[in-house]
Amino acid sequence: MYLSVYYKRFTFVLISAVLLLLLTACQKNAFPIDNEQLSEEERLVIRFSHVVGENTPKGLAARKFAELINERSNGYVEVQVFPNGFLYKDGEEMNALLNGDIQMIAPATSKVTSLVPEWSVIDLPFAFSTYEEVHDYIAGPIGQRLISKLDDKGLHTLGIWDNGFKQMSNRDFPIHYPTDLKQLNMRIMPSEILEKQFSVLGAVPKKIDFNILFHHLENGDVDGQENTLSNITSKNLHTLQKYLTISNHGYLGYVLLMNDEFWKELPVNIQLLITDTLLEVNQWEWSIAHRLNSEKLTELEDCECIEIYHLTEEERQIWEEAFEPVFEYYKNRFGAEYIELLP
Ligand code: LMR
Repeated sequence: MYLSVYYKRFTFVLISAVLLLLLTACQKNAFPIDNEQLSEEERLVIRFSHVVGENTPKGLAARKFAELINERSNGYVEVQVFPNGFLYKDGEEMNALLNGDIQMIAPATSKVTSLVPEWSVIDLPFAFSTYEEVHDYIAGPIGQRLISKLDDKGLHTLGIWDNGFKQMSNRDFPIHYPTDLKQLNMRIMPSEILEKQFSVLGAVPKKIDFNILFHHLENGDVDGQENTLSNITSKNLHTLQKYLTISNHGYLGYVLLMNDEFWKELPVNIQLLITDTLLEVNQWEWSIAHRLNSEKLTELEDCECIEIYHLTEEERQIWEEAFEPVFEYYKNRFGAEYIELLP
């Protein structure tokens, strides 16, 4: 008799536990079926704005992220991607994110320096030689400090996307040595360190939005520019330039950012969906970025449409010495600890 009551209770507890587990599992993925029919008001919309083309590492990864999120939430969460600065231009997207007009952006690390200038450590010339070095630095204590400075500004960091290492191009003559840059008008992204990088060599840095750079090169407002090969070719910038130096002198990557208030208001299951999906997308983005930049080099070599020069190891040393004042400047401005932990 006692045994039977005990058995019934045990069975009841067991069934309840199984039901609870099932319920929790269902809730985790509790997206109503066929949400494609829902109106925009009923769906959860995430507007993701960026300034590059769709055929770039960032453009492709943003699209993949949107597709996976849509598929995995049965259409309940809709990531709307706005490429090419259609919605907000270079200088506008950060404010739009902070104001909650859009929910996601992936600006170049150089561009977050307007908010947290310490991030310009990533722009220091020849600070990194490989993508892994950048990833390790950002995963380390200094990178985490940089990320917490973004938290303080109302931003939630979801990851780092690579683009690649920057190369230099111009229309006038081959660039082999730092002295070759004297007097050249060079387009830069908005970053104090990039400004310094060119001005210490006697060049004239000019901050110009990525989307209008083609016209500025065409009009001759600037003679040259620095960027990754996937960015250069995506906007056909090479067609307006005669000389390209493969210098790999600086890393260009992105901080994937969400408006923190929006993030905090998301249900936990959606937060999980986003972070889990990004674990996969971030890895995919890295491999696409690396592949795309090397493919673009081959394409440029094959087209014979621009004269390409690869810096030698000895020349690289000369450049590194010429850039020492830039490191000194950063150290005086933001403290030595950011530089001491560079690879
Ligand atoms: C640039 O302005 O050159 C880049 O930041 C564009 C980008 O987002 O890759």
